[in-house]
Amino acid sequence: MTQDVFIEKVKKLLQEKYPFSPPLAHVHSFGCQQNVSDGEKIMGLLSVMGYGFTDELSRADLIIYNTCAVRESAETRVFGNLGELKPLKEKNPELVIGICGCMAQQEHVVEKIKNSYKHIDMVFGTFMLSSLPEILYSVLAKHEKVYNIEEKDVGTNEFPNIIRNSKIKAFVPVMYGCDNFCSYCIVPYVRGRERSRSVSSIINEVEELVQNGCKEITLLGQNVNSYGKGLNEKITFPELLRKLNEIKGDFKLRFMSSHPKDAGFELIDAILECEKVGKHLHLPFQSGSNRILSEMNRKYTKEDYLKIIDYARSKKPDFSFSSDVIVGFPNETDEDFEETLNLIKYVEFDNLYTFIYSKRSGTKAAEIKDLIPYEAKAARMKKLLELQREIASKRYKTFIGRTLFVLAEAEGKKGEGYLTGHSDENIIVEFKAEKENIGKFVKVKITGAYNWALVGQIEN
Ligand code: SAM
Ligand code: SF4
Ligand code: F3S
Repeated sequence: MTQDVFIEKVKKLLQEKYPFSPPLAHVHSFGCQQNVSDGEKIMGLLSVMGYGFTDELSRADLIIYNTCAVRESAETRVFGNLGELKPLKEKNPELVIGICGCMAQQEHVVEKIKNSYKHIDMVFGTFMLSSLPEILYSVLAKHEKVYNIEEKDVGTNEFPNIIRNSKIKAFVPVMYGCDNFCSYCIVPYVRGRERSRSVSSIINEVEELVQNGCKEITLLGQNVNSYGKGLNEKITFPELLRKLNEIKGDFKLRFMSSHPKDAGFELIDAILECEKVGKHLHLPFQSGSNRILSEMNRKYTKEDYLKIIDYARSKKPDFSFSSDVIVGFPNETDEDFEETLNLIKYVEFDNLYTFIYSKRSGTKAAEIKDLIPYEAKAARMKKLLELQREIASKRYKTFIGRTLFVLAEAEGKKGEGYLTGHSDENIIVEFKAEKENIGKFVKVKITGAYNWALVGQIEN
């Protein structure tokens, strides 16, 4: 890695500057799992250079915010957080503050930081992640401010060290970027074109994780079904799933996200036939109206979407689906919204991630003159959430009396004596069990249901 020389330089510099105990870094990732995964790589690089870590901002010698740009609210929050760091910098001028991730990849954000957030030392975009040692060296050694959001061909950079948030659950990116350009979405502009990791590097990473006791591996990509595009070896995502399913060991595979235009019956067959793959599919539909789907540039119709649902349910009647939906896309009519509700009623999702449309400058949809007031969108959202709560309650009640396989992940929210985990269907389960079970797959007899989780008792 060309950064090796900078890693050594930063290491030496830090040893001179902090001779008695290692400097501390605070890294916070906002946004999706892809960003969380990038945050783990950043921590890996920092650790190789000699940093320790702290959750307390006031103890940190380096603060990095790894940001999300998908909605305006995400950006506003980060600007608020950046503002709050100013007194810390005034108290400790040696403190280094950096911002990276999707928000940092946008020109207007860099301009705003240059002009109004002068206490920030480095801004680096998503293509610059692996150049962090070089960037940090410029800041530490030359006391320069760095603003670098160049788009370079980074391929699928492999990182020397990854510090994972959990020992039992891990994210493994299989592809980066997005070529879909949904008209509302900023991701293709800030994450670049699609590129897939080689099969061998994915297999190696999964094997290593499993050998180290990891129990659940989530494969990541903005559209995992595009996996394989541009690789020399001919391989599709369902084929990748089947290969990973052959890896020996006691572990579960999940993945997200799938784009309905590329999700076919082969994907459903692979989920059902691979015993290690969770029996669940996250398949964002965004809208139930064909007119809006076309305006969104989603490249499928409601009917195409339901064909996948029907196929899965014909093979496994209780097949579990979750989804993303946007309410209030520019000029969405009451009729369009009704179609969204109808689709939700038909599919009966176990989980819905719901978003009110947020205008993102630079995207196609931002150019549409939107005549729908925000209050109307908020009222629609309320109605949709009520419907989804009813559906989840009804579906979750059907699990009462059944025994589910659950990965015990941590202590539960219900208090003393309870653990929490996810079932094969990816539903949260809170259950009575001893702490020693954390990190194991256990059988849980379901005794009750909320609209957000199932409740049960471990079976021996
Ligand atoms: N690639 C994934 C897909 O297409 O399914 C989605 C990734 S995106 C980071 C996560 C979700 O954010 C999207 O599915 C969409 O529902 C939502 N989203 C994206 N842009 C949005 C916007 N401008 N306003 C509201 N929600 C948005
Ligand atoms: Fe955004 Fe669409 Fe790409 Fe998902 S598929 S990241 S919604 S452009
Ligand atoms: Fe993810 Fe947000 Fe970027 S959702 S890809 S971190 S814009």
